[in-house]
Amino acid sequence: MEERLQKILAKAGIASRRQAEQLIRAGRIRINGQVVETMGCKADPARDLITCDGKPVVFEEKMYVLLNKPAGYVTTLADPQGRPVVADLLTKIPLRLFPVGRLDLDTEGALLMTNDGDLANSILHPRFEVNKTYEALVAGSPSKEALALLERGIMLDGVKTRPARVRVLQRRTSDTLIEITIHEGKKRQVRKMFQAIDHRVLHLRRTAYGNLGLGALPPGKFRILTPDDLKKIFLKKKSFTIKNIPD
Ligand code: URA
Repeated sequence: MEERLQKILAKAGIASRRQAEQLIRAGRIRINGQVVETMGCKADPARDLITCDGKPVVFEEKMYVLLNKPAGYVTTLADPQGRPVVADLLTKIPLRLFPVGRLDLDTEGALLMTNDGDLANSILHPRFEVNKTYEALVAGSPSKEALALLERGIMLDGVKTRPARVRVLQRRTSDTLIEITIHEGKKRQVRKMFQAIDHRVLHLRRTAYGNLGLGALPPGKFRILTPDDLKKIFLKKKSFTIKNIPD
């Protein structure tokens, strides 16, 4: 069956749909030996030979992993500066899994890794409003008013953030532990949100995607996700079709 090339590449686990577009633009994808030059191009994986950098695109089994990323690991598969990368923690997995979104070098916690570009796309696309929950240890003691600003939405780089859920977990003399849930994924968003109310983030950990939490998973360890785990990520039933999740 003919499908859009971006979709085929995403299904094959080559990249997310957006990254697939970049591969196409860079002239790295060929169909039956011809470089693909148009973005809307379709192909039939059963009939056409699709290659990326000259290597055939093969359809492999889909796999979903929840990693507890430790601080100091870069959210990528390879780092030109030679720093530790999250892929180093998945060497026991025989498939090439890529991270869904990113956590900063210093941020710890829940990081989904998969070779399913469609699922990655659904998690990253703002339309699906997948909640991401973080525990942020911030300097000082933010007032209720300041936290209410974060809940309502605050201007960051000229754009107002979407409403967030904010809960104080612990107030101490010099810092405060706060749980914050957002469904956007702008670069360094949580750190910037607290910076905007003049409270620096001292430590940041993502604890959950939707209702899929880290549980007792130790830093540096991963667990393979089941279809039921995947369903917990998407809380808004109307926004998600489970066609890609195996039963
Ligand atoms: N927000 C941040 O500031 N950093 C992360 O790593 C994730 C969300």
